[in-house]
Amino acid sequence: MKLTNLIETDQTSQHHEAFLADVVNGLSTEQKSISAKYFYDDIGSELFQKISQHHDYYPTKTEFSILENISNLLPTIINDAEIDIIELGAGDGHKSELIINGFINAKRKVNFYPIDISEKAMQLLGDNLSINENLHIHGVVADYLHGLAHLKAISNNKKLVLFLGSNIGNFNKEQTDQFLTMLCNALNNDDYVLMGFDLKKDPAILNKAYNDDAGLTKAFNLNLLTRINRELGGDIDITQFMHYGFYNPYRSTMESYLISLAEQTITLKAANQTFHFKHLESIHLEYSHKFTPSGITKLAEHNGFEITQLFSDEKDYFIDALFHKIVHKDMYD
Ligand SMILES: C[S@@+](CC[C@H](N)C(=O)[O-])C[C@H]1O[C@@H](n2cnc3c(N)ncnc32)[C@H](O)[C@@H]1O
Repeated sequence: MKLTNLIETDQTSQHHEAFLADVVNGLSTEQKSISAKYFYDDIGSELFQKISQHHDYYPTKTEFSILENISNLLPTIINDAEIDIIELGAGDGHKSELIINGFINAKRKVNFYPIDISEKAMQLLGDNLSINENLHIHGVVADYLHGLAHLKAISNNKKLVLFLGSNIGNFNKEQTDQFLTMLCNALNNDDYVLMGFDLKKDPAILNKAYNDDAGLTKAFNLNLLTRINRELGGDIDITQFMHYGFYNPYRSTMESYLISLAEQTITLKAANQTFHFKHLESIHLEYSHKFTPSGITKLAEHNGFEITQLFSDEKDYFIDALFHKIVHKDMYD
């Protein structure tokens, strides 16, 4: 697998500066927060892989079952001899492999461009994908937005962009529209996107998934503090914070917080700054929006796509939506 590390080659210090600036800003606001994109250092990526295999965490296995069902169907809808599959936030590549194999089995040539902020995730992916003479893999370690900027320059082949795992649910409404508009602009007419959406469901199922009985999600969230200690010279006592994740039906989101178990002050050497926590004060980490089928259709159409098909599982827990970019020519042009 060829690998381009956009973060390492030209942005290591920028990346560090951005992490520092985001943490300082996030801990300086009234509702403290840290962006979920910083979960994925090497340990975070390994923990997420374990979460995704845990019996309480339904999203990965549910989406996997949908992709198993549609992997042979997709090449009948997208029937070009050569295709570029670009995956944003590819993770360990288990889902990618299903989609890629559908095209390879249909005797298509596939150029696969996984884009992920985590180099560790990219290594896991490289280990998982099997070699085939019709498959060329070029991994890119980068933020989605940088990855998107590269999309158009890749080639003129038909593109299928994968954005799985309901990663879209981590954005707020404004960020979602911005992201989808950027994505649409980065594609050519007749390109496709396959996007995963976690659906609204019984809150008990949601709460269980984000509070697994092995404590993996708890460890995943607390690891963010360990990462701050290591990379930003923090002195945070991890035992003085607890993980709190719950479903908020008013916003239709799972929400994740870390809650301070004591009144305490932490120091970040890299910023030469201290931050005070009241007893039970929280740090917001993540929203994970839960969707409805009609909401998904509206979102696609509002941002320049047509829905080709919504694919669901037997319990209606999850949808993988196939978006199609169609530029309608004015009949008088
Ligand atoms: C929840 S995991 C999902 C992985 C995989 N798509 C799946 O569905 O199982 C999120 C993945 O996106 C990556 N990621 C998170 N934020 C990112 C960002 N802003 N830019 C690029 N990758 C990101 C993480 O490193 C991680 O591998």
